[in-house]
Amino acid sequence: MGDDERAIERAVDLIGASNHAVVLVGAGLSAESGIPTFRGAGGLWTKVGEPSMNGYEQFLRDPIRWWEHQLSPEADPARTEFREAIDRAEPNAGHYALVSMEKLGVLKMTITQNVDNLHVRAGAVRLVEIHGNRTKVRCIGCEARWPREAFDYEELPPLCPECGSLVKGDTVMFGEPIPPSVIDACFRESAACDCMIVCGTSATVFPAASFPRMVKENGGTLIEVNPNPTPLSDMADVTLRGPTGELLPEVVKRLSYWTI
Ligand code: APR
Repeated sequence: MGDDERAIERAVDLIGASNHAVVLVGAGLSAESGIPTFRGAGGLWTKVGEPSMNGYEQFLRDPIRWWEHQLSPEADPARTEFREAIDRAEPNAGHYALVSMEKLGVLKMTITQNVDNLHVRAGAVRLVEIHGNRTKVRCIGCEARWPREAFDYEELPPLCPECGSLVKGDTVMFGEPIPPSVIDACFRESAACDCMIVCGTSATVFPAASFPRMVKENGGTLIEVNPNPTPLSDMADVTLRGPTGELLPEVVKRLSYWTI
């Protein structure tokens, strides 16, 4: 048995023996759906630079101007390639493998940093979208959410019919606080988690990157699935060095024996 095979077996043992496995997902899970990641070779931020940290402040200062920009995508050509990649993307084997783990009753929650809606389209139910979902809009006051199409955007800025506050894209902007109910769910799941599977994230953006560290501090185990090393690699109990689209289905294949 090769090292990779041994690592997969070890990962399956840890996940199979867990009581509350949680997966933390980053852009790497959607890379095999054709969506560029943010950092590293070909990453969106690598190409166009990270967005300014005051995006949310600008929204609050002039929500009409923000919405006018949002509604005229040609205003931001650098992101056209990224937007088009997301628009044509389909869930890949990695997304479906996580849904299988959820259906096996082994995966208790998926915490995703991705806003591409591919987990939902793959059938995920137990899902927390810590950075929001690009197909939705959200009230910044009461956190009510709707599909983008729920508003006609004749009147700008759209206001919440429930509480009258401003409505913005659900995607969490740089400098924007993560909605309280979302961050509470993430910390609750991480506190209960005894085995965290970290898939396709550079583990450099907080608070998401703090969850695996929390699990380790609480005595839980960490499995990293990533072709490249990250700041979490040294603390991982098992490292599956490769693409999630190939490795997660291998894990699920063996997990099914555990749960028969
Ligand atoms: N399978 C698994 N992992 C992969 C694959 C793949 N096929 N391809 C690339 N990766 C890994 C890279 O090695 C890298 O570690 O995915 C990771 C992508 O890292 P980032 O581009 O930094 O994306 P992410 O970690 O999700 O960024 C976190 O930063 O800008 C914010 O809001 C944005 O949610 C994002 C957050």
